[in-house]
Amino acid sequence: MAKDTLSITDNRTGQSYEVPVSLGTIKAMDLRQVKVDAEDFGLMTYDPAFMNTAACKSAITFIDGDKGILRYRGYPIEQLAERASFLEVAYLLAEGELPTAAELEKWKSDITYHTYVHTNIIKFLEGFRYDAHPMGMLLGVVGALSTFYPDAKNIHDPANRYLQRVRLMAKIPTIAAFLFRHSRGLPYEFPRNDLDYIGNFVNMTFSIGGQHQANPVLQRALEILLILHADHEQNCSTSAVRAVGSSGVDPFSAISAGIAALYGPLHGGANEAVLKMLDEIGEKKNIPAFIESVKAGKGRLMGFGHRVYKSYDPRAKLIKRVADDVFRETGLNPKLDIALELERIALEDDYFISRKLYPNVDFYSGLIYQAMGYPTEYFTVLFALGRMPGWLAQWEEMLLDKEQKIARPRQIYTGSGERPFVEIGKRG
Ligand code: ACO
Repeated sequence: MAKDTLSITDNRTGQSYEVPVSLGTIKAMDLRQVKVDAEDFGLMTYDPAFMNTAACKSAITFIDGDKGILRYRGYPIEQLAERASFLEVAYLLAEGELPTAAELEKWKSDITYHTYVHTNIIKFLEGFRYDAHPMGMLLGVVGALSTFYPDAKNIHDPANRYLQRVRLMAKIPTIAAFLFRHSRGLPYEFPRNDLDYIGNFVNMTFSIGGQHQANPVLQRALEILLILHADHEQNCSTSAVRAVGSSGVDPFSAISAGIAALYGPLHGGANEAVLKMLDEIGEKKNIPAFIESVKAGKGRLMGFGHRVYKSYDPRAKLIKRVADDVFRETGLNPKLDIALELERIALEDDYFISRKLYPNVDFYSGLIYQAMGYPTEYFTVLFALGRMPGWLAQWEEMLLDKEQKIARPRQIYTGSGERPFVEIGKRG
């Protein structure tokens, strides 16, 4: 009869072991019993970059990378992008269910109540150079929020955690907009609580002299983009939030670590890198030479490839549709032609086909953000705005998970054995 176990024979000793298989997984700690002798530490697994290691159980986001499926709490991303608001999705991720009308009203009103930031944040921002990268500023300012809210250390009180989650959701658009204004030398535009979440953010970024003509198509497009970015299970930045949060630090510090991870060009920074790449390519005629250079290992085709998606990224499909809506309003982004041609050529090329490299969420998002009027360095800030609900939901889930402890991987030590200290005059 089939059993949910794995039999292991250690050929070093001839001993056999049987370890339970649950949810398609064995527990790494079950391998510790595999020893050559009593002195042996026991068998470990070696998995740099966590290619095949589940670090948690999670009920938030489901991805099937081969089939191109993404669901938040069971709801297909396509349906959420078409029918939900960003705040509904944020509530869903955190609470596990779509809100009722009354729950949504309370959630919105709690967030609206907290949109203002302490005015010292402005003084803090003014310390940054005029050309400071917005992501560097964002991670600094969000981290600094912990000094404004020392009560956030009280992470074991559910009501307190809720308050900090609301604060982060409410204040990140304000901070993000302030960074935008700082970079441009524009006066800060304060939150307007008569506007909805997206409308308020757009107003704070683009309003001049208190005036901004809202474009509902562009606002809905931005909202969809934020929904598509809202969570993506155990990616680099979310793992950073969980790992840092597992130390028991306040959520502002943990989220700031997530923002730092997102900044990198292989993660959220890829949307910025895509635009730089398209600029470098310059014209369609340069594409074949560019593809050849990528294939020769001289750089990557940014916005292509994904650790999990090995057929297509469902977000990229939806984003292409959003791009059509946006470009109808703004006129075509001239770089779109280069991107489309790049995609066409790459998808026919054996290098990309054999490695299962398809456009990811970042391939087209930058073009849309640019058409909306956001500068290239700002794209990843928009990603952070979208990812905030996911980070918060994952942080909460991690704290409530009784199996979690402080994150602390093992290593395989490859350095010198013990050796005596050498006086400076006798070295080299
Ligand atoms: N362009 C060219 N070659 C690539 C690319 C790419 N974008 N991505 C992967 N490859 C190649 C690698 O060189 C490697 O080839 P090899 O087997 O001949 O050595 C093979 O495909 C596998 O690549 P890995 O780096 O092992 O794949 P991994 O899963 O570690 O990387 C990643 C995933 C980081 C996303 C990678 O595809 C990449 O660097 N893409 C470009 C950056 C990007 O768009 N990042 C955004 C990701 S989505 C997000 O964070 C929101």
